[in-house]
Amino acid sequence: MQIGRLNHVGVATPSIAQSVALYRDMLGATRIREPFDLPEQGVRVCFVDLPNAQVELIEPLGDDSPIHGFLARNPRGGQHHVCFEVPDIIAARDELVARGATVLRNGEPRIGAHGVPVIFVHPKDMGGVLIELMAEPGGH
Ligand code: CO
Repeated sequence: MQIGRLNHVGVATPSIAQSVALYRDMLGATRIREPFDLPEQGVRVCFVDLPNAQVELIEPLGDDSPIHGFLARNPRGGQHHVCFEVPDIIAARDELVARGATVLRNGEPRIGAHGVPVIFVHPKDMGGVLIELMAEPGGH
């Protein structure tokens, strides 16, 4: 596999509204999309568009949201994951598993916030960084 474009940086937040205000008022972000719910993943998401990538603001949705634990450890929120594009998500998954990495959900891709399949590599295998890999537009 070969890592591709940086697609987005995932930022967990207790409040998308507060984070949007920060990115808009402190950093001057102008292209902020409408937030939307991903109930099957237990998150509400808002993308901030940058010239070369996005910031993905993630707020917990529901009592069993997977980011409650992260926010318990980081009450103000914080950087949660980094997402890179790969040309073939299944090939990437298979190569990572062959190299001994732990791919979450037993390696089964799911449809991410961009509507394409994604996988996550456990941070213990990636220097403490949770890595999301996403099928690049036009890929598999
Ligand atoms: Co993401």
